[in-house]
Formats: sequence, C-alpha cells, structure tokens
Amino acid sequence: MPDPTPPEASRRVEALRREIAEHDHRYYVLDQPVLSDAEYDRLLQELRELEAAHPELVTPDSPTQRVGGAPRDGFSTVEHDTPMLSLDNAFEEGDLVEFDRRVRERLQAPGEVVYTGEPKLDGISLSLTYEDGLLVRAGTRGDGRTGEDVTANVQTIGSVPLRLRGGEYPSRLEVRGEVVIRSEDFEKLNAERLEAGERPFANPRNAAAGSLRQLDPRITARRPLTLFTFGVGEPLALDVATHSEVLDRLAALGFRTTGPIERLRGVAECLSYRQRLIEQREALPYEVDGVVFKVDDLTAREQLGFTARAPRWAVAFKLPAREATTVVREILPSVGRTGKVTPLARLEPVEVGGVTVSRASLHNADELERKDVREGDTVMVRRAGDVIPEVTTVVMEKRPPQARPWRFEERVAQCPECGSAVVRVEGEAAHRCIGGLSCPAQLEGAILHFASRRALDIDGLGEKIVEQLISKGMVRDPADLFHLRHAQLAGLERMGDKSADNLLTSLERARQTSLERFLYGLGIQHVGDVTARRLAEAAYRLRCDLEGDPGGLRQAAGLEPGSAVSSEALLRLMAASAEELEAIEDIGPVVARAIVGFFAEPHNRRVIERLRAAGVHWPEPLPSAAATEAPLAGASVVLTGTLAGWTRGQAKAAIEARGGRVTGSVSRRTDYVVAGEDAGSKLDRARQLEIPILDEAGFQALLEGAPSDAD
Ligand code: IVH
Repeated sequence: MPDPTPPEASRRVEALRREIAEHDHRYYVLDQPVLSDAEYDRLLQELRELEAAHPELVTPDSPTQRVGGAPRDGFSTVEHDTPMLSLDNAFEEGDLVEFDRRVRERLQAPGEVVYTGEPKLDGISLSLTYEDGLLVRAGTRGDGRTGEDVTANVQTIGSVPLRLRGGEYPSRLEVRGEVVIRSEDFEKLNAERLEAGERPFANPRNAAAGSLRQLDPRITARRPLTLFTFGVGEPLALDVATHSEVLDRLAALGFRTTGPIERLRGVAECLSYRQRLIEQREALPYEVDGVVFKVDDLTAREQLGFTARAPRWAVAFKLPAREATTVVREILPSVGRTGKVTPLARLEPVEVGGVTVSRASLHNADELERKDVREGDTVMVRRAGDVIPEVTTVVMEKRPPQARPWRFEERVAQCPECGSAVVRVEGEAAHRCIGGLSCPAQLEGAILHFASRRALDIDGLGEKIVEQLISKGMVRDPADLFHLRHAQLAGLERMGDKSADNLLTSLERARQTSLERFLYGLGIQHVGDVTARRLAEAAYRLRCDLEGDPGGLRQAAGLEPGSAVSSEALLRLMAASAEELEAIEDIGPVVARAIVGFFAEPHNRRVIERLRAAGVHWPEPLPSAAATEAPLAGASVVLTGTLAGWTRGQAKAAIEARGGRVTGSVSRRTDYVVAGEDAGSKLDRARQLEIPILDEAGFQALLEGAPSDAD
C-alpha cells in the first residue's frame, strides 16, 4: 500500500496551481504580469517537486503539464461537435451591401441590423472542448467535420486555460479561436532562426501552423503561440442573448478575444469600422487579413442558419493584401549599422498594402541561395509591420532564360561602403564588413562606442551631435574627433558656446586613457571590456622574439618603420598571430581571429595611427614579469569628490594601468582615498580609519611613482 497523501501536500499543490494559473492568465491573456520570472519559476519548481514526491497528485490541468509530453508517431483525429465552417467573403463594398440586404430580407427586419465587427486573424483555426471546466481536447479544423487531435500541443500554449476561470459554464463547452504568432514574437523567432542558420518562416501563419502541428509537443512549447478566441460551438448554451456577450463571457472564462471588437449598426458603421482597422493595422499586435461582421443577436442567427459551407449570419471582408508580385531589377549588398552585410533586392516599385515598395530584404547569403532569387525574377514580396519588406518566393514559371544565380561570396568580397574585406562570421549565418572604424555605414555606431563610458569616456558626445558631425563631413573616423575646433562645434544644432567648450575639454582629457579602454573603444568584434583588459594585461607576453626591437615590431604589426604608434604593448598585440592570442586566458579561436582580422585591415591600422598622432596615449602596462613592481600593484583606491583635471573614468583608468583597483567604499583594506572638491562622507570615514588621503596633486604624484604626500 502506498502511503496516503498528506493532506497538507494536496492543499499546497492546489494552492500553487491556483496561484500559477492566475499568473499565467495575467501574463499570457491580460499582458499584465505582476511576478518576476524568477518568482514565477520558484512557484512552478515547488509544484514540480511536490508532484514528483506525490505523483498521485498530478492532474492534466496542472501547469506542470504545459511543458509538452513525449513525441508521437502521428495525430489521431477528432470529430467536431458542430462543424467548423468557413466564412463567405466580401471583396468590395457592394458585396457587404448585398450581404446585409439578404440578412434583413431573411429576418424581415424593418430597420438596421446590429453586427459585431472583429478583426479576422490570419492563423490556424482551433476548437477546444472543455468538460466540467477542464480542457479535454483540442482539434484543428481539418475538413470541417474531423480534424487532427493536437491536445498535447495546445496544452503548452500559455493563453489556453487548462481549466476555465470562474464557476459558471456549461458542463460541456466548445470554444473556437485562432492560434497565431504575434508580429513581435514572429520577428524575434525568425531573427533567432536566421542567427542559427535555420530557415526563417515565410509568414506568421506558416510559423503558427508548423508549430502547432509538431509531433513533438516540446517543440510547440518553445514557440510563441497565442490563442485568440472568437466564438463557441453552441452560443446559446452560455445563456446569453448576443454574440458580444459571448465574447465577454469568453474573456471572463480566461481567454483572450480578438482585440478591437465593436457593435455596429448597419452597413455604414461596418464600413467605417473596416476603415479604422486598416488605419490601425500596423499597430495591431498580430496579422489581420480581414474583418468579420457577425449578426449580434443570437436568436436572429438561429433563424438565419447555415449554407453547406458557411453561416448566413457572418461575412469576412478582406483587407488589402500585404503581398504582391513584382520584378527584381537588381540584387545589391547592403551594410547595416553593425557591419552586417546583407543582400537586398531592388524592385520594380509595387504597391503592397497601401505602401509603395521598391526594396526588399533577402536576409542573408544562405537565404538568397535557398530561395535562388535572381536578377530579372518575378517574386512575391511581403510586408508586415514597420520592418523592411521581404522577398518570400520566386515565381519560377516567369524566370527569364538568361537569369543567372547570384552568388554572395563571389559578388561581395569587399564592403560596398568602405572597400574593406567582407567575411563570413563563424557560428552565424551572416557576413560582416571588418572595416569597423572606417566604414561609413558603421561610423555613427563606431564613434558612439569609442566615446562611451567604458571606452574613451568622452562626455557630451551624444547621438545627435555625432550624427551632425558625420553628415557635415567633420568626422570620418574617431581620430577626427581630436581635430575638432570650437568654431566648428559651436555651429552645430543643440550646441552652444559652453557645451562646445565642455566637449573640447572632455576630448582633451580623453587623450589620456588606458590601453584597455583604447582596445575596447576600437569596437573589435567580440572584444568587450573584459577581453580588452585581458589583452592589455597579456600584451607583454606576446612577440617576445621582437623584444627591444621597435622597428621589427612595427613591421610585424604592418606599420611603417616611422609610425606614430610607439606603444610597445599595442604593437605586440597588432603583431600577434591568432595562435599567440589564443594562448591568452579567455580568448578562443573566434575572438583571436576577429582581432587578427581587425588589425590586418589597412583602414583600421590607419585609424590607430591617426589616433596616436592626435595624441591619444596611455601609460604602458608593465611587462608581466614586473607587474608586481607596478607603483600601485594590488592597491585599493577610493575616489571621492570632483577632480579638476580628471573624470572618474580617467582616474580609474590611470590607477588600473598601474596595477591598482578602484573600489566604491572605504574600509580598513583601502590603501588610498583620493579626495577632490566637495568630498563627502567617504573622506570622513577615511579620516576615522586613518587611511592616507591624497589631494589632486598627491594623486598625480602617486601616479608618477613618487612617494605620496598623504596627510
Ligand atoms: S468566425 C462559422 N471570427 O477564419 C465560422 N473566424 O474563413 C465562424 N477567423 O475558420 C468563424 N478570425 O479560423 C471568425 N474573428 C473571427 C476570425 C475567424 C479568423 C478564421 C477562422 C475561420 C476562418 C474562416
């Protein structure tokens, strides 16, 4: 005999399920989460543990069952209680007028009929059966009478209640709705697939269909599916009089309904509803391919009944298609802000969903090859949301005989913007321009990064200013920043006399930096601040064969013998091979190759030279053997108040370059406190603990290795 279940365990399990279901509803249906992911995971984990200890407590409506069970060999079929019919379509105003006329005639209605207007979602139709409030079955539409049993998959969809909320519902209820992938989720999903070198989905509908019909429900569980409901099999069973009330009841039972739903009187209001929906279309969170008008009064509906195919009480009015066919004039590489180079199709201009489209994305070289798009081809173009339209398929029948495959790597060896090499990024299905600092397409991003806090820390150089500096041709690479003059700056928008002065002062200060900040600021792919520090620390272990031979180092680094690059540490890095770099802690082959590739690019070397020539400098990190002899080796320094000649970032860089650490609070382990103007409580604490306190001059002396004059 197994032990009886302790009552407190079953009570806790019940309470957890209720609580989790409540949070699922808030998150997936209302879009109003109140818990953090971590808190939610804790609840779910507790429930999992209790269920593992007491398997007899597991029920099909437990939120733990949403993860998806084992894969199956195929789908069994489900019979629908009431057939899932389709909708008659209206293609123009006249069709709607005609529909309304027939409705009024059949109802012998003297006045205007009240309809509901709802968006028609472009997804997969689903029927869900609830018995005594519990989800027991979910089926696709199939041929209308029988569909596929997708219960295990549907259980994984967060917006599908496993148990109906509230206590009032018929013992058996069939809910109808559409499973979709919302536009935002779709873009994310496709971006991830592209990144992973997988085929993107052609549109959200295909993605939703493919995800729902997975034999392995664990795959469905990872796809961002959402259910929107628009009706029930037997509306009268809900004891309501109108369709609008049905939708309200669905919301009360824990479902999402389809968004902007309105009650409309007569054809005129229906038409203006459609117009409003067209205008709102971009802002809706999902793809809409039409509007549905339904007679609101349920008794009138009964009276109208069905044809063999569709209800007589509803009609779908299409919206303008967001797909169109056109001809590819030319395929071109295009360089994004981050240096990604992607193929782009220049098209015969065509109107798609009310917007003229003349360019479309082909995503990446693999996609281009897979779709085999060629210049001269007739293609389908699809537009959704604000993103650039994409070529979905080629109309093969219309391919001109002379059309030749367009091979990315043959055509795009060099960046069309700067002429630097274009390389395929390992582990990514992408190509990139390695021009970095000198590529105009990447310039704004590169300058902002160069000026950012953890790089050269140039105060007052925001996006708006950088934009203007570039568009006016005043800055073509980061080195140009150091040649800016007051008169030039003061002429910019949002830049007064005073802010021009301030910017020039911060540029002046930024000239003195650290090797690590400089390396980080170069924006080498995969080189974040931590990697930059590792590189700076390890620089002196590289190319020891050229120790004491600056000319040789310069040559090995690809520079002229008289080059302005005098930093031996930097020269050693520039001259290092991928293998040598890989020997440094935390640096793998991909990072090492990115670094070698960056320094191999003549444009980048030129920018580095120009930066050094403009006076950007740093104290040399010490040869590693001597690291412990660094003037501040192992010292812990606290900065407080304002220093006249230094920003916090620069002071920190200077301390770190000499082997010290900057910490935030004063303790017995603090070695020095550097106190500037308006120093506060940290200074008091330093006095209390009798820790050496330095003013700005003392700090300077400390950095120069002189014995400190601490008070
Ligand atoms: S009502 C008897 N309302 O369109 C059919 N359908 O073409 C009642 N659809 O199979 C359907 N949004 O999958 C209705 N707001 C909406 C809808 C909608 C999308 C789909 C549904 C149906 C198909 C008919």
